[in-house]
Amino acid sequence: MSCASPIGVLDSGLGGLSVFSEIVRLLPEESVIYYGDGKNCPYGEKPKEEIIKISDEIVCFLIGHGCKLIVLACNTATADAIDYLREKYPDTPFVGMEPAVKPAVMSTRTGVVGILATAPTLEGRHFKDNYLKYAGEAAIIPAVGEGFVNIVENGEIESHEAESAVRKIIDPLIEKNVDRIVLGCTHYPFLKDVINKIIGEREIEIINPAPAVVRRIENLLVEKRISAPSGNLPYYEFYSSSGKQYLNKIKTTADKLLKGLKK
Ligand code: DGL
Repeated sequence: MSCASPIGVLDSGLGGLSVFSEIVRLLPEESVIYYGDGKNCPYGEKPKEEIIKISDEIVCFLIGHGCKLIVLACNTATADAIDYLREKYPDTPFVGMEPAVKPAVMSTRTGVVGILATAPTLEGRHFKDNYLKYAGEAAIIPAVGEGFVNIVENGEIESHEAESAVRKIIDPLIEKNVDRIVLGCTHYPFLKDVINKIIGEREIEIINPAPAVVRRIENLLVEKRISAPSGNLPYYEFYSSSGKQYLNKIKTTADKLLKGLKK
């Protein structure tokens, strides 16, 4: 392991690519190995013990491939497994995803904030801790994005089904007068256009925690003195548990996101 070693990024599937693309945008000299666990997706429907076991296997794979830092680019895996993983791999720095309660509460004007995430994330310790620490006077309305992960995985983000699934969750939040909606699952940024369409002209801001998480990664790399050397030519590798076709889907999605960064 050296400073030029890659950052390991894992998710249940394609969702973590929304974090991967932010890493590439904000830390362009860092190499990344991405693992999308298509075979076991969605994590949101699995018991905690299983998520711990699966995440452990992927982390082991990423460390075996020389990763210097691991990003759980999955709120669900963070909620269920990050404490276990930090204890098991004390020499590896971990960064996880948490629903961004603090920035939403600090900026809301209506005092009502919606948090979209999977059920395990909303039931997990990190969300509860953030809620208790930062909610203050604000009303926090948690909502599970029922079916959202499968819509993204199946490439159906522009379908009528996607719009009606998203409307079913977003409309009640609008009725409750939210002006901030936090995307607490890394798959959900792929549905941002549909969410925006439903929000229309209303002054509701969608908060994606990924840029803040990448700043955390950057700080940790600096603190541990493992940032990529200046001028480093990065590489990106992709792996999946789910065969060639799925791996191609990961690569195509990543390509699209990277092309979007260049525009
Ligand atoms: N992308 C994930 C998250 O951030 C996992 C969603 C799932 O597989 O259910 O929670």
